[in-house]
Amino acid sequence: MAIQKPRGTQDILPSTIANWHYIEGRIRKLCKTYGFQEIRTPMFEETGLFLRGIGETTDVVQKEMYSFPTGDKKEQTYTLRPENTASAVRAYLENKIYGQEALTKWFYIGPMFRHDKPQAGRYRQFHQFGVEVLGTQAPMADAEVIMLVLQLFKDFGLKDLSVEVNSVGCPNCRPAYRDKLIAFFEPKKDQLCDDCKSRLYKNPLRILDCKNESCKALTIGVPEIHENLCDECHDHFEELKQYLTAAGVNYNVNPRLVRGLDYYTKTAFEVQYAPLGSQSAVAGGGRYDGLVEELDGPHTPAVGFAMGMERLLLALEKQGLLPEEVQEPSVFVVSLGDAAKVAGFTLVKELRERYIIAETSGEAKSMKSQLKHANKINAKYVIIVGDDELARREAILRDMENGEQETVAIDAIVDRVTSLVKG
Ligand code: HAM
Repeated sequence: MAIQKPRGTQDILPSTIANWHYIEGRIRKLCKTYGFQEIRTPMFEETGLFLRGIGETTDVVQKEMYSFPTGDKKEQTYTLRPENTASAVRAYLENKIYGQEALTKWFYIGPMFRHDKPQAGRYRQFHQFGVEVLGTQAPMADAEVIMLVLQLFKDFGLKDLSVEVNSVGCPNCRPAYRDKLIAFFEPKKDQLCDDCKSRLYKNPLRILDCKNESCKALTIGVPEIHENLCDECHDHFEELKQYLTAAGVNYNVNPRLVRGLDYYTKTAFEVQYAPLGSQSAVAGGGRYDGLVEELDGPHTPAVGFAMGMERLLLALEKQGLLPEEVQEPSVFVVSLGDAAKVAGFTLVKELRERYIIAETSGEAKSMKSQLKHANKINAKYVIIVGDDELARREAILRDMENGEQETVAIDAIVDRVTSLVKG
């Protein structure tokens, strides 16, 4: 059997690449408006970065990482990045950005890798657009990253999105809440799913967002996180909600929203697009005030989010919001005869030097088959060069839309086409 692409990956072919350019173009423009600068970090990192950054008990670390030997040192492994936040923080520290600027605003676009069960909207190689703001504890920064993602979706014309926000507390208030959760779930331990059984002592908050129906039923009457926040977390959340309300954001507070990565403190949020079914989270993020320190850096509060680009594309497709590709006018040079072929080749070269899309055929094909090729590339203009015309230093220029033709001197034809195409 012929070799096929790995499970859970996709070939992005020329027929769909315009959609990617479209969303990436808008993302870059919006990021500039919000003052974010682009970074690109390696696609693999030392495994320890993700163990420490994302958390050893998370599903991502326990089940979904692609790790492989570095080939340099025994026992040392690299891992394909499952997300970009840990790498961004590593780059922030390694390049000592904290010593150069008080506030860092970065964005990234790129592939991430998770060994998950593939299904519609869930892939093993997928792309994220994400932003990270490092160096501020102001709740306004949380509101700003939420506004950025919402503006992006709004500008695409996406409707029916829901925004869920929560506070997951901080190292001051979470341990006590954690104990309350353990005390609450311990008597029901046997009824929890296997995943939640193992989460009970390691990470009981994750039980709150288990998708298993029987676990969901067991959470009825569970102590609410909002009643267990310290003053600082409580005030932070209130201020965030104030900004969101002032900006007219229609959000829901979801006390069960616990994100699957360990680094979150205070704010957690998700944007859902329900028609995508079980993979409805198009974007998610939150605050991670302890991560920079966890990775041996100075205390640096931070907040960010990432959006699944395949999920965004699926949502845009569902709502018919992907634009038709606009064809730029192109030129095809039909050459008939050996000398004409060389003349055609140089005409195409000169047109391309002026950034006019131009093609010709190097094969000795009939006029009919060359015109077919011209149609295939949707040529707006065709230049016909035969050996006879060439002897007179002339060529025929045909407008393919209205069929009009004119004879133009070979030496003037590139200028003539340029004025037609570029106006
Ligand atoms: P995350 O929730 O794990 O967060 O991923 C963010 C988004 O990536 C998801 O909402 C989803 O749209 C997309 N995504 C995740 N896994 C897959 C997959 N297997 N296939 C397709 N799309 C997927 C993070 O990664 C955090 N680093 C976000 C963040 C940045 N928090 C703070 N800063």
